[in-house]
Amino acid sequence: MELKRRPRRLRANQAIRSMVQENHVRVQDLIYPMFVMMGEKKKLEISSMPGVYNFSLDELILALQEVVKLGIPAVLLFGIPESKDSVGSGAYHEHGIVQEAVRLAKKHFPELYVITDVCLCEYTDHGHCGLIDQGQVLNDPTLDLLAQTALSHALAGADMVAPSDMMDGRVAAIRELLDKEGFSHIPIMAYSAKFASGFYGPFREAAGSTPQFGDRRTYQMDPSNGNEAMRETELDIEEGADLIIVKPAMAYGDIIYRTKQKCGVPVAAYNVSGEYAMVKAASANGWIDEKRIVMEALVSMKRAGADLLITYHALDVANWLREEGPV
Ligand code: PBG
Repeated sequence: MELKRRPRRLRANQAIRSMVQENHVRVQDLIYPMFVMMGEKKKLEISSMPGVYNFSLDELILALQEVVKLGIPAVLLFGIPESKDSVGSGAYHEHGIVQEAVRLAKKHFPELYVITDVCLCEYTDHGHCGLIDQGQVLNDPTLDLLAQTALSHALAGADMVAPSDMMDGRVAAIRELLDKEGFSHIPIMAYSAKFASGFYGPFREAAGSTPQFGDRRTYQMDPSNGNEAMRETELDIEEGADLIIVKPAMAYGDIIYRTKQKCGVPVAAYNVSGEYAMVKAASANGWIDEKRIVMEALVSMKRAGADLLITYHALDVANWLREEGPV
């Protein structure tokens, strides 16, 4: 038979397959999310996220040694405060948990790129990402607190801030305050396409941030909507976002693709807690090959257009890349 086109020619062996490989997961792409709390010598595993811990500050430094040694360029810090209140005051306190963690991380590892999650939900007793009045999540009064939170992170030495609250106008509010206070050089990575997702379940267990009433559907987006995500993203870029996060990632490849095509800005895919938990649970049962599944999921995000990968698998991925070279 005379076939003109034989795509299998370029799949014949590993050498040619590597030569024509279109997308790669690189250690430089990785951002490792980490949870920090007050106290000493504490390293609490999050039960639904095996291998992910909530660290006291001294343990954080030990864990960061490993991150730096593996060549992972950046971490994304989440704080678990000792106490919560209705206005989330731990979020913007000069000596709050994230602020202390940033100071310590930058002191020990000046080269490590430290990004902070800017939100109130870990710090409010009601678990919502904004102020509450009569059961409603207030938008505009929340903006100042978010901006104060971002500023307190910048003052502590954060390299970049990542607002994850989904209030309208928060990127503009943060940009304005940072600029006014002399932090015009600090980039904003906005969680622009953030969906009201069931995939955040394990994170909320870790952060104790499950809303005490209602849900997040009045501020996070309906998973059915793609055009809305484009409008959110365009707005955030207009307001001054430098990078965009799409979250979750695995079920949202179309959003990653469209964001990249339409806006061209650097895009980070957030491979969230529930995605991590599913892979861990199935591999613990011997039902899937963890490494293959993780690398396939991550390269699919790169293929869709992501530049950066925010993932709890980052340590494993960095180790695998060391052992075997780029995947
Ligand atoms: C805070 C925040 C959440 C996540 C990141 N920032 C939780 C939420 O919106 O409920 C989720 C991260 C994950 O699931 O890995 N707003």
